[in-house]
Amino acid sequence: MLLSVLRGSIEWASTTQGERDMAETASLQIEDKIIQLPIIVGSEDEKALDISKLRAETGYITLDQGYGNTGSCQSDITFIDGDKGILRYRGYAIEDLAANSSFIETAYLLIWGELPNADELREFSALFTKHQMLREGIKHHFNLFPPNSPPMAVLSSALNALACYYPELLDIEDAATFTEASARIMSKVRTIAAYSHRQQLGHRIEYPHPDKQFAENFLHMMFSEPYNQFEPDPALVKALDLIFLLHADHEQNCSTSTVRMVGSSEANLFASVAAGVGALWGPLHGGANVAVVNMLERISAENLSVTDFVRQVKDKKAGIRLMGFGHRVYKNFDPRANIIKKSCEEVLEKLHIDDPMLDIAKELEAVALQDDYFVQRKLYPNVDFYSGVILRALGIPKEMFTVIFAIGRMPGWIAQWYEESKSTKISRPRQVYTGSVERSYQPMVERS
Ligand code: CMC
Repeated sequence: MLLSVLRGSIEWASTTQGERDMAETASLQIEDKIIQLPIIVGSEDEKALDISKLRAETGYITLDQGYGNTGSCQSDITFIDGDKGILRYRGYAIEDLAANSSFIETAYLLIWGELPNADELREFSALFTKHQMLREGIKHHFNLFPPNSPPMAVLSSALNALACYYPELLDIEDAATFTEASARIMSKVRTIAAYSHRQQLGHRIEYPHPDKQFAENFLHMMFSEPYNQFEPDPALVKALDLIFLLHADHEQNCSTSTVRMVGSSEANLFASVAAGVGALWGPLHGGANVAVVNMLERISAENLSVTDFVRQVKDKKAGIRLMGFGHRVYKNFDPRANIIKKSCEEVLEKLHIDDPMLDIAKELEAVALQDDYFVQRKLYPNVDFYSGVILRALGIPKEMFTVIFAIGRMPGWIAQWYEESKSTKISRPRQVYTGSVERSYQPMVERS
């Protein structure tokens, strides 16, 4: 294999599989210099060139806008094969975990690398109950946000504010402090999220319930009233737990890379996950679940046919994307989308909900999957395509969809932050500067 690099070339040291297993370096020729680049091979045979000495040895850096070809770390946590549609947490297939595990157990797995035994799971769950309350002081923060504040803004601010209440957790130097900090964050984020919803409505805050499990407790804080305790159908609780589990980690995506980037400066866990919330908010990332439902609602409100809408997307002039389709890594079905779609159909049927949005979504999927535009670009439904529809069916308001994603992603961010904390290197990309070359300061009178 020979790839052109400017005026040079990069060549695998060997080409056959057997030889490649033996290969340890690739040679790169730049101008008349040949250097050896170490080849790093991951446990699933993913290959990378270690270019960390490239600039020192040649004066060149690599440029990869959007980082589509750049590995930022070596990680033991999550494996994705985007061409085959594979997602595994710590070696366990997402389908296996979705069928057999729970969000809390999966959170433990992500953070500690192994499934817990019964005692470990009990202790871990107990920490969530212990830390689910917010200090009264934090509660007052909610009163200061104006009505209708975006819950993602409230969530990010409240996570940062937590740092002020737990100064003893800012420097994590041992596993016990890390466990304490992570359980606090994962449990409180759910309380904060529910509070932000109540605050938006101008309703009284509902405290967490000591006997309810993670997802059920969240629904309780969202929907219970003093005169009417919310008793959800177990199918609904299970579906929400599954949504949390499916979002729990996804290797080096935009928000996780943000969390690791912030953490690499040795910033504390609270500040790092708060930054992750900001990155997740965007419609190309976690905000896509809101954008999908907006899109379905628009199609329905304007009485558009699905084929007309797809035509608008393909036309590109209107700048409309088929939200919930496409992925930087998956060039095949996003396995999470398949699981959510199935769960969505089951829950809607069980709760006897007939949602026209699901019908539009299914029709859109069918049309897009037959269309050359999407086929050629390998655009398939991603996790957000059906998650908005199911969250709607669960009675979760649209503004909370991305917050739900953030609650689910918290163990992934925490695990990734912890892994990053083992490295002593700050993340600091370089750039190719394209601005003015040096010039002299012009006094005001000389400027036109
Ligand atoms: N609808 C229409 N065209 C699309 C779409 C889409 N959803 N996604 C990509 N394309 C086209 C794009 O216009 C480009 O076409 P061309 O080659 O003619 O210029 C081509 O496909 C490649 O697109 P890209 O933007 O270079 O691909 P990317 O890997 O940088 O972007 C993405 C990935 C997820 C941002 C993008 O597919 C997208 O915007 N999807 C819609 C938003 C969405 O659903 N986001 C949730 C992602 S999954 C949850 C998460 O992990 O955050």
